[in-house]
Amino acid sequence: MRDEDFETLSAMLATAPGVVGAKILELLHREKVIPTTGYANLTDATVDALAAALKGARVLDAGSGTGYMAHRLSEVGVDVCACDVVDVNESREVEPSAHRWKLDVRGNAVDLLPGEFDAVILSWPDIHSPFAFEVASKLKSGQSLWYLGESRGGCTASDDFFNLMMDEQLWLLETWLGRSLNEVYRPYTGMKDRWWVFRRI
Ligand SMILES: C[S@@+](CC[C@H](N)C(=O)[O-])C[C@H]1O[C@@H](n2cnc3c(N)ncnc32)[C@H](O)[C@@H]1O
Repeated sequence: MRDEDFETLSAMLATAPGVVGAKILELLHREKVIPTTGYANLTDATVDALAAALKGARVLDAGSGTGYMAHRLSEVGVDVCACDVVDVNESREVEPSAHRWKLDVRGNAVDLLPGEFDAVILSWPDIHSPFAFEVASKLKSGQSLWYLGESRGGCTASDDFFNLMMDEQLWLLETWLGRSLNEVYRPYTGMKDRWWVFRRI
């Protein structure tokens, strides 16, 4: 959506928003920010919670999209490598200092694994794509997977991924880590994404 259209619609809805108008405004806001800040609703509270849990760890953001999450985390001292097959920033008209953040690796994140990472972030992996399954399959004992997405049947990841993550011989669900993130994480309107943290046994 063009900025002018967004501003016009916002102005119209702001005159008589009501509950429906407010929801539409939030949905429009999400559509507007995804191309720059990505799919996660990354508030300061979520960045702080992630930083508290991940500081000192070597982190891979697998399929980092715009790289915004990695950028925010590195700003608060997390050692994070952003990897995506596509560099969306390359062709985007952006204000360099405000919106341009770089990928560390342009390529297949699966090829970087298991590597020397302690933790792998998998935020909003595409639905029905093998990517989430392939990333999780490559993790070695001790590495953790920080999945942000919807549960099975939602709009992220794949059945193969959820089947794999249910295998209790392979994964320990770090319930308290997921809970501490979800206490502060607020999905965008209409979304049901939550954090799950798994450790490879
Ligand atoms: C729905 S987007 C989510 C982006 C970002 N993680 C976020 O939360 O905004 C999924 C991303 O995964 C990337 N991707 C898919 N397969 C990949 C692969 N094999 N290696 C690296 N990135 C991949 C896509 O290019 C896309 O940017």
